[in-house]
Amino acid sequence: MAVLILISPKRTFVLPLLLLTAASFLTVPKTATALSTKYYDKTCPSLQSVVRSAMARAVATDPRAGASVLRLFFHDCFVNGCDASVLLDDTSTTSTTGGEKSAGPNANSLRGYEIIDAVKAAVEASCPATVSCADALALAARDAVALLGGPSWTVRLGRADARPGAGQAAANANLPGPGSSLASMVAAFAAKGLSPRDVTALSGAHTVGRARCATFRARVNGGDGNVNATFAAQLARSCPGGGGADGALAAMDAETPDAFDNGYFRALVQRRGLLHSDQELFNGGSQDALVRKYAANGALFFSDFAKAMVRMGNLAPAAGTPLEVRINCRKPN
Ligand code: HEM
Repeated sequence: MAVLILISPKRTFVLPLLLLTAASFLTVPKTATALSTKYYDKTCPSLQSVVRSAMARAVATDPRAGASVLRLFFHDCFVNGCDASVLLDDTSTTSTTGGEKSAGPNANSLRGYEIIDAVKAAVEASCPATVSCADALALAARDAVALLGGPSWTVRLGRADARPGAGQAAANANLPGPGSSLASMVAAFAAKGLSPRDVTALSGAHTVGRARCATFRARVNGGDGNVNATFAAQLARSCPGGGGADGALAAMDAETPDAFDNGYFRALVQRRGLLHSDQELFNGGSQDALVRKYAANGALFFSDFAKAMVRMGNLAPAAGTPLEVRINCRKPN
């Protein structure tokens, strides 16, 4: 059985079609159906517990798994909406026309694909050919945050999965890099309908996970004014200015690297942000006051983060994008 969905204006019409033959795909215009908390209530009532268990196993094995899945969701949603496009393996065709995994911000950097494979396999075992990879990823990211000690939120469901497309160019264009200025991050988020406050709240995801030396070398080797000197010198030992050690990892929140808390913001106030882009949030600009508030008030950060994740998670593919419910998240049906 295969399912193909055609999205029309604003995300909102979802209409799965059972196909009679695996080779033929049908598309039918849909009537509006918003993302809904009840989307799989009848077709996959065990979905939430299946995803949560799979993520609990992954995080128990390696807490970084939670961070990696959270980042996967960000990199998915910022590129043509939350449509699991980032999970498609590059093929001989897409590597020339735009495989997203090979895009600059993703290649040798984005990780956790096999965790989503395990989540989707568990979902398929309970509810075959029913739940999109995009929805599985949205739930997995939510559960990752909660399992690491962060907030939780309700995920509305009914997303569908992209067919291979021009994701590489869109990823290169839409995802901010570690050298970004505050202004460019604010602009990148505004392009997705997200506010400067959302930039700061969502950057709080860097309270968990690791970054490679290549992404912070300049900052800790004299290339950045706004950095605590002791902190920079410590990091420069394993990430020297002369090059090499590109893959050496450092925690993004050194004090509590695997706990989803507001430690990231306390570090920013001490000028111990790992990335240049992190410290841009507390560098004499418009977000300084909010960073101080989050550093002092973890509950406020949690509440804003959850709301911003819902907004980010509702980013929809463009009208008319052909979509389906993928069985294997790595390849189209
Ligand atoms: C605001 C602009 C952002 C920039 C410039 C940025 C940049 C980066 C960079 C350079 C890394 C390290 C990559 C590497 O080592 O190869 C990273 C890691 C990470 N990012 Fe972001 N990021 C941003 C926003 C976000 C958002 C919105 C989220 C999620 C909501 C997020 C979640 C993460 C996580 C969890 C990691 C660690 C992943 C792991 O350990 O596998 N980031 N980010």
